[in-house]
Amino acid sequence: MAKKLHIKTYGCQMNVYDSDRMADVLAPLGYSNSDDASDADMVIINTCHIREKAAEKVFSELGRLRLWKEAEAEQGRQVKIAVAGCVAQAEGEEISRRAPWVDVVVGPQAYHRLPELVANIDPAARRAVIDTDFPVEDKFDFLPEEHTPRGPAAFLSVQEGCNKFCTFCVVPYTRGAEFSRPASSVLDEAKRLIAGGSVELNLLGQNVNAWAAEGTDGKEWNFARLLYELADLDGLKRLRYTTSHPRDMNADLIRAHADIPALMPYLHLPVQSGSNRVLEAMNRDHSRDDYFRIIDDLRAARSDMAISGDFIVGFPGETDQDFADTLNLIARVNYASAYSFKYSPRPGTPASMRDDQVDEDVKSERLAGLQQLVSAQQLAFNKAKIGQEMDVLIERPANRAHQKAGRSPWMQAVHFPATSGEIGDIVKLTIVDAHQNSLSAEAIATQ
Ligand code: SAH
Ligand code: SF4
Ligand code: F3S
Repeated sequence: MAKKLHIKTYGCQMNVYDSDRMADVLAPLGYSNSDDASDADMVIINTCHIREKAAEKVFSELGRLRLWKEAEAEQGRQVKIAVAGCVAQAEGEEISRRAPWVDVVVGPQAYHRLPELVANIDPAARRAVIDTDFPVEDKFDFLPEEHTPRGPAAFLSVQEGCNKFCTFCVVPYTRGAEFSRPASSVLDEAKRLIAGGSVELNLLGQNVNAWAAEGTDGKEWNFARLLYELADLDGLKRLRYTTSHPRDMNADLIRAHADIPALMPYLHLPVQSGSNRVLEAMNRDHSRDDYFRIIDDLRAARSDMAISGDFIVGFPGETDQDFADTLNLIARVNYASAYSFKYSPRPGTPASMRDDQVDEDVKSERLAGLQQLVSAQQLAFNKAKIGQEMDVLIERPANRAHQKAGRSPWMQAVHFPATSGEIGDIVKLTIVDAHQNSLSAEAIATQ
């Protein structure tokens, strides 16, 4: 019988990918995706544990879902609630105890077992079926080959987990140890995505550029090698990858940016801080000069390379001078975009136990200063495109009538008249206006 599944996704792109895969896993059980939670038969919330605010949202969301479940039960409908993702991994037992109306708790490495977990739900038990193992088997071997089309630009997870243990971060605990999918598994999925209509692939991993695994020739490949092989696939037009760690940005990978035209000239390369002292305390294992060298090499390999980053302000012990170093690093790199966060102490991480935590109002002030600087850089980056012709991948109809929306090679959102091509096409357009977060374009005038 047809049943409706609604998945609500928080957190990073890996969660977006995992949500799609959970839908694929449940499709053989008769579930099809629904945008509407109210008439769903099962709701999954795919959660993020990275900062306190993200994790707090889960319990308020679960409070709302409880009311929904009770109201549906009064109408004679038994609906199911599942919690997936990184909060599920970190707080599985706690979720079941505090929210006994949750039916399933499943971690990011165990969701291929969802059919079994759903079958084991016992409505009388008032406790969830929990699976937060890091299984020995590779979940990718158990995910269905069938998947719903992902659209022109698709995510593809190639690497998971993290061994780097930055002192502020929960990811090594929630996602487990670094693991790279074998090349054949990645290439097969890439071919299926392309056959399903995707022309751009965005390779995902917590440390995607640390990818290293067996190649199709039985030899060990590095990430650069994987990129060359993917770029050769028929029908693939654009290639991206995220998120990279500066430590794994090796010479082969930088050369790939010079060699592979499909590799887009935009790289998300978080540095977190511009202070060597803070970088060391964060256990990032590189200096600000190492970072500058990488950026310079990337720009030498490809002159139109745009950089984006992540920053944390108010890491324990961060002084005014440390923060000033972050600002001057930003000034030197000149970012096309950046994400920035106030340091949030996370349970079990070394930095959370330090007794030199920074005051909340100092964090807020620093965040505002940093955001002002990167916003100005982003706007200038966008404005510099006015008058240029560029390739835009058409991704979807825009929110405004008679418009479509797409992406520039530099990941900028572009809006343009709907007559300019079909979804999935790459069209040449002229940029006529630029805003903080997007560009406006017109068809190229023909004489
Ligand atoms: N693997 C990626 C980052 C994944 S987490 C990397 O190493 O760059 C995404 C971002 O969240 C991080 O880059 C960092 O800026 C931010 N973040 C992680 N833990 C945080 C914390 N405890 N407080 C505030 N921001 C945090
Ligand atoms: Fe977290 Fe650091 Fe690993 Fe990135 S590299 S996921 S910030 S521990
Ligand atoms: Fe959040 Fe987990 Fe991604 S903590 S950022 S959903 S890896």
